[in-house]
Amino acid sequence: MTELITIKDLKVHYPIRSGFFNRVTDHVYAVDGVDFIIEKGKTYGLVGESGSGKSTTGKAIVGLEKITSGEIIYDGQDVTKRSVRKKMNYNKDVQMIFQDSMSSLNPKKRVVDIIAEPLRNFERLSDQEEKTRVKSLLDIVGMPEDALYKYPHEFSGGQRQRLGVARAVASNPKLIVADEPVSALDLSVQAQVLNFMKRIQQEFGLSFLFISHDLGVVKHMCDNIAIMYKGRFVEIGTREDIYQDPRHIYTKRLLSAIPQIDVKNRDAHKENRRKVELEYVTHQKDYYDESGRVYDLRKITESHQVALKNGGAE
Ligand SMILES: Nc1ncnc2c1ncn2[C@@H]1O[C@H](COP(=O)(O)OP(=O)(O)O)[C@@H](O)[C@H]1O
Ligand SMILES: [Mg+2]
Repeated sequence: MTELITIKDLKVHYPIRSGFFNRVTDHVYAVDGVDFIIEKGKTYGLVGESGSGKSTTGKAIVGLEKITSGEIIYDGQDVTKRSVRKKMNYNKDVQMIFQDSMSSLNPKKRVVDIIAEPLRNFERLSDQEEKTRVKSLLDIVGMPEDALYKYPHEFSGGQRQRLGVARAVASNPKLIVADEPVSALDLSVQAQVLNFMKRIQQEFGLSFLFISHDLGVVKHMCDNIAIMYKGRFVEIGTREDIYQDPRHIYTKRLLSAIPQIDVKNRDAHKENRRKVELEYVTHQKDYYDESGRVYDLRKITESHQVALKNGGAE
């Protein structure tokens, strides 16, 4: 295993202010102590329902969110400090794609300027060189050359996400944090965008941190997966660990929530869903402590860890 980025005990707590003096009275524990390793050329999936802390984790890694504590180790250096990120060219090496391309791509700019922006920040190219680069980036995501002088609103959602991918790879990064990149798209278009992402990963040897609320979407993308709930990881493992041998009830719930296309198995799926819901209701205390907090992760195999009371031993 060759690691690209190691995240150690990352915490992001947002202060809640209230009262006449606007004092900090409490905190939202958006991310509350997560550890994981993103490997070179691999995809790490971060999955959980809305509000579990996925976006905050992603933004903390790219440096868009101030962290409360913890370390993000890149090339042997802790990049949680802005000065270190700058020195190491970290902002070039790590890029982000967002779910909502309509608001993340500047509507007043033409495609050529949108995609060239990271190039202008990090490289000195002549106009001609820049145009050639942008054209080849468009080609990589299957967009025609005449897209160059159009504006974001002239494209469909799927095309805009592909432009977002082109923009993210423009600076030749090592890691792309993709936050729900296909969640707003129709199923058929999702597959298309995911295929482009995969192809680009192979071509550039990129790593992805792929964020989704849907275990169905990440299935064919991810090598390793973390399941997140209330700012903590309830289970981490390889794709096989998570899909073939889920141990935490929350993981099982997410799995049972994957929409079934196969009509033949619909009844069995419904029955499984009912069983999982029942277990969820009756066995809460095996999975969360008295205050509802997720237990610490324990190793069950070399690759697979789960947050169960006493590590699952009774
Ligand atoms: N800027 C902020 N200030 C206060 N609370 C926030 C802020 N951003 C996110 N949160 C809260 O942190 C938690 C995690 O949010 P987020 O990381 O966006 O979750 P996800 O991406 O999994 O839906 C949520 O409870 C959310 O309301
Ligand atoms: Mg989010």
